[in-house]
Amino acid sequence: MGEKQIIIAIDGHSSTGKSTVAKQLAKALEYIYVDTGAMYRAVSLYAMRNGFIDESHFDQKALENNLDKIYLKFKINPQTGLAEVLLNDENIERQIRTLEVSRHVSKIAAVSKVRKKLVEQQQKMGEDKGIVMDGRDIGTVVFPNAELKLFMTATAKDRAERRFLELNERGENVTYEDVLKNVVNRDHIDSTRKDSPLRKAEDAIKIDNSNLTLQQQFEQILKLAKETIAKA
Ligand code: DC
Repeated sequence: MGEKQIIIAIDGHSSTGKSTVAKQLAKALEYIYVDTGAMYRAVSLYAMRNGFIDESHFDQKALENNLDKIYLKFKINPQTGLAEVLLNDENIERQIRTLEVSRHVSKIAAVSKVRKKLVEQQQKMGEDKGIVMDGRDIGTVVFPNAELKLFMTATAKDRAERRFLELNERGENVTYEDVLKNVVNRDHIDSTRKDSPLRKAEDAIKIDNSNLTLQQQFEQILKLAKETIAKA
């Protein structure tokens, strides 16, 4: 008999490296990886393109009234082997990683009707288990019965440094101060919103990776995952 498949829920603050470790885990276990942040970012891009949100206003009603026009899908990029997000069949993987999208996404993610739509889709993706999903509410709302829940954190300074390097490498012209401001601001909105605020599930294992290398972190988490699968 094959090994039992489980659900691995990874939550935590922004830029804690959730997606890096989630991708490594999914590859090692041959599980599906789902980046739920990409789904909220895709809805944000849709709202930006349609003029529902900008620096000075947010027309929440207009977004809610157009939610049924948003169709999200993941598709594997054969070159990288990683899933990329499609918005109404357009690959927008690159466009959703900008600081501009990051500036609006927490407001979009605070809208209950947006959350309801995306959570339903996420739950369907996990029906057959064998999945690693990262986000803010995976262990608390999407899969409260996930076999393994991790909650990742690191200091805001460490996280902003990592994100700053990442954006710079991609050629985005941003300052460290802007990135730090965005990290702190998103933490605040994500943790204080009414619907599904970011919090650690009681049964989640907390991982502070401020002082861990990627390799150390991966080894620690892979061990936890294998132990959990053996017990499932
Ligand atoms: O993980 P990320 O930085 O790509 O997420 C983008 C935003 O989406 C983040 O500020 C909070 C929101 N989000 C959420 O509310 N729930 C999730 N499950 C995933 C992301």
